[in-house]
Amino acid sequence: MQSRYALNNNNKKKSYIKWILIIGALLIAGAAAFWLYLHDWDAERSWDALTEEINQLASPEPAGEGEKQIEEVQEESVVIPEEKEDVVTDNLPVIPEADDEELEEAVKDATVYPDSIELPEEPTFINGILIANKQNPLPSDYAPGVDPEAKSSFDAMREEALKSDIDLIAFSTFRDFNRQQELYEGYVEKDGVEKADRYSARPGFSEHQTGLAFDIGETGEEQHWAAASFGETEGGKWLAENAHRFGFILRYPEGKEQLTGYMHESWHFRYVGKGAATEIYEADITLEEYLEVD
Ligand code: DAL
Ligand code: ZN
Repeated sequence: MQSRYALNNNNKKKSYIKWILIIGALLIAGAAAFWLYLHDWDAERSWDALTEEINQLASPEPAGEGEKQIEEVQEESVVIPEEKEDVVTDNLPVIPEADDEELEEAVKDATVYPDSIELPEEPTFINGILIANKQNPLPSDYAPGVDPEAKSSFDAMREEALKSDIDLIAFSTFRDFNRQQELYEGYVEKDGVEKADRYSARPGFSEHQTGLAFDIGETGEEQHWAAASFGETEGGKWLAENAHRFGFILRYPEGKEQLTGYMHESWHFRYVGKGAATEIYEADITLEEYLEVD
């Protein structure tokens, strides 16, 4: 039989344990609430940040190298390897033969530039969406670099595609006015103005100058980079079906040259944000139609 003293002691222990458990639970709940608060009460972001934190703890990087490594990994998906630029340049001019004369005329009308058009002081935004096309150019000094939101959406899209064994790479993203000029002049030299205007923007008119356009291909599949054949590959098909979920639209769809001003490019995606991209995808329209502009 236990003494009264022993019984008292047991009760005290139980009570201590109870309090320790209550305080522990309160501390965990408090920490969880604080973590959520730190990430704008967004459970998904909080969870991602937590997993990242745990991964960091599990494999710490050498002091001072952390930031550099993260930067390198982030850049990886949007770097154009210099040695690949020739492949892309060689692939580009794939101009389909038109078999419909009327359409050919309409395409010609739409793909020529207005007679006189000056580069503006500011880019054109419609309903908060930047438009860059043959009727709406950009200031020559507009050079925002790659848009960070577009880039992180691309990275998320890449992660998702990897689950289907598709290793996406953005082989050309932001190009400033001078780079576009170099490219365009090269194409004119090769194909003449009329043909070059169907697949390459003149300097000041390229969506690539906005930092929101991504030319996408698959790593190791350079033969399809910037080529019509990309649309027939697993990667090209996956993108056409899924890019909108990450805020990207296929900017120059097939058969819409008379609206967009450029021939079909199965590799050129434009970031417009998830809402607009989904509406454009579901309605099967171009950005020009969505924004009701020429
Ligand atoms: N290839 C697209 C139209 C550009 O040059 O911006
Ligand atoms: Zn492009």
